[in-house]
Amino acid sequence: MSSDIRVVRSTCDRQENRSLASEPQAEPVVFVVFGASGDLATRKLMPALYDLFICGRLPETFCVLGAARTQLSDEHFRRAAEQGLQADSDRDLSRLDEFCDRLYYQAIKYDSRSSYDTLAGKLASLEKTKGIGGNRVYYLAVPPTLYTSIVENLGKSGLAEQGDKGIGWRRIIIEKPFGSDLNSALYLDRAVHEHFDEDQIFRIDHYLAKDTVQNVLVFRLANAIFEPIWNRHFIEHVSITASETLGVEQRAGYYEQAGVIRDMFQNHMLQLLALTAMEPPTLFEAERVRDEKVKVLRSLRPLPKDKLHDHLVLGQYGPGNLEGKTLAGYRQEPGVAPDSLTATYARMQLFIDNWRWRGVPFYLTSGKRMTRKKTEIVVQFKEVPHSVFNNFLGEHSTANRLVIGIQPDQSISLTFQTKSPGVGFQLQPVSMYFDYKSDFAQTPKLDAYAKVLLDCLLGDQLLFWRQDGVEQSWSFLTPILEGCETCPDRADRLQIYPSASAGPDVLL
Ligand code: BG6
Repeated sequence: MSSDIRVVRSTCDRQENRSLASEPQAEPVVFVVFGASGDLATRKLMPALYDLFICGRLPETFCVLGAARTQLSDEHFRRAAEQGLQADSDRDLSRLDEFCDRLYYQAIKYDSRSSYDTLAGKLASLEKTKGIGGNRVYYLAVPPTLYTSIVENLGKSGLAEQGDKGIGWRRIIIEKPFGSDLNSALYLDRAVHEHFDEDQIFRIDHYLAKDTVQNVLVFRLANAIFEPIWNRHFIEHVSITASETLGVEQRAGYYEQAGVIRDMFQNHMLQLLALTAMEPPTLFEAERVRDEKVKVLRSLRPLPKDKLHDHLVLGQYGPGNLEGKTLAGYRQEPGVAPDSLTATYARMQLFIDNWRWRGVPFYLTSGKRMTRKKTEIVVQFKEVPHSVFNNFLGEHSTANRLVIGIQPDQSISLTFQTKSPGVGFQLQPVSMYFDYKSDFAQTPKLDAYAKVLLDCLLGDQLLFWRQDGVEQSWSFLTPILEGCETCPDRADRLQIYPSASAGPDVLL
C-alpha cells in the first residue's frame, strides 16, 4: 500500500513568469520537408509546425516547402495538411487558413540532380517574394536509404552552402536510424559531412525533447539532496523501461531489418541511460552536456561475446488477446516473414565502468505489444546498512525506490518507510508523489517534435545527437547485434511472448 503526499508548487517560481517576449525568436526561414506526403510529415511535422505557429514561436515570415515524389499542386498539399491537422479534435484551428497559406509544394525525384535545380529555383523565388533572407532547414522525413542521395544532391546543387557568403544559414535534420551498425553510421556521417558541417547537422531523437526526460537532469542537478547519493554507494540497480502496447503497425519493411535494439536501444534507451548516469556538466549547454553523455557511452562495458545471453533476453510478440479482441502475432503482421527472427522485445543488463557506477547493474527493457505503455526510470536504492528494527521485521526492510515516470505517467515518486498508525509496531512503505499534469496544469505544452524543430530553428544543438555519441552507441551495440544475428541457436533464444502481456519470462 502507498499513500500520496501532494507536492505543493512554489508560487514564486521565477521561470513560470517568464513571458514569451523574453524567449529567443526564430529568424525568417523556409522549412523544406523531404517526404512531405508521408506519414511522419502528416502525423508529426505539420502538427508540430502548426502548434509552433499558433504559439507565436515561428516568425511571421516563414513558409514550408513540401517535396516528395508524388505530383501535387500547392493547393492539394495545403488541403492534405489541413485534413491532417483537423484530425485532432483538441487542436485550436483558429489560424488554420493563415498557416496553410504558407505551405508550398514541389515534386521531386530524390536521385535526380535536375530536380534539385528546380527546387533551388522554387526556393529562390519563394524567398524573394516572401522576403526571407535565405535561411533554410532541410528535414529528411524519408526512408534512411534515401539520406545519402538527398544530401549529395543538396550539396552538389549548392543548396548546403551557407556562412560567409551572406546567403543565410542552412541546416539539415536527420531522423534516426543513423545507420544500422557502426560502419553504416560512419559511412552516412562521411556522406553528410562532405556537404554539411557538424553545426549544420541536427540528428533528432524525439525522446530528448520530452519534458520528463529533460527533467531527469533538472531533478538530479537543480536539487542538492539527490546527487550525493546518486552513485554505487547508495544505488543497488537502475531499471530503464520503455514498453509499448502498439505492435509494428505498418512499418514492417523497416522494422524487420531494425528490430528493437536498433529501433529503441541505439537511440532512446541509451539516451535515457546517459542522462541518468552522466556526470554533471559545468553548464547546461549543448557541447558540455553532450561531452558528458558521450563519456557514459564510452564507459559501457562490452557484453561478453561468449556469455551474451547471460546479459540479454530477446523476445518476439506472438498472438494474444486484449479485452476480447484477438491481436495478431508479429509473424502474422503484414510484410513480416512468417519465420521472422526479428526481436520486438529486449532486456539487457549492462554496466558502466567508471568511478561512480562500477558494479551497479543497469537494466534496459523495451518491447512492443506489452500490457501497457510505460516509459520510466527506476532507481532502486540499497537497504539500510543495519536495520534497528530487525527484531520486528527480520533482516530485510524495504529499500527506498525512486521512480521517474516519463510517459504516460509524468511523475516522480519516492518510496520510503513509515510507521503504521496504531499500538503495534509495523512499518509500511508509502510514497511521495509529484504529478506533472496536475501540478503544471496551466503550462502550455509543446509536443516533443515541436520543441526539437524550434531548437533547430534557433540553432540550439542541446537536444540532438552529436556524431561521437552516435558512434559510441553503435560501438557498444554492433558486436551485440552481430553476436545475436549469427548465433547458431538464434531461433531458440528468441522467446515468443503473448501480445498484451508483460513480455517473456525473463531470467536476468
Ligand atoms: C520511435 C520508434 O523512435 O519511437 C517506434 O521507431 C516507437 O518504434 C517510438 O514506437 C516510441 O516513441 P514514443 O514517444 O511513443 O515512446
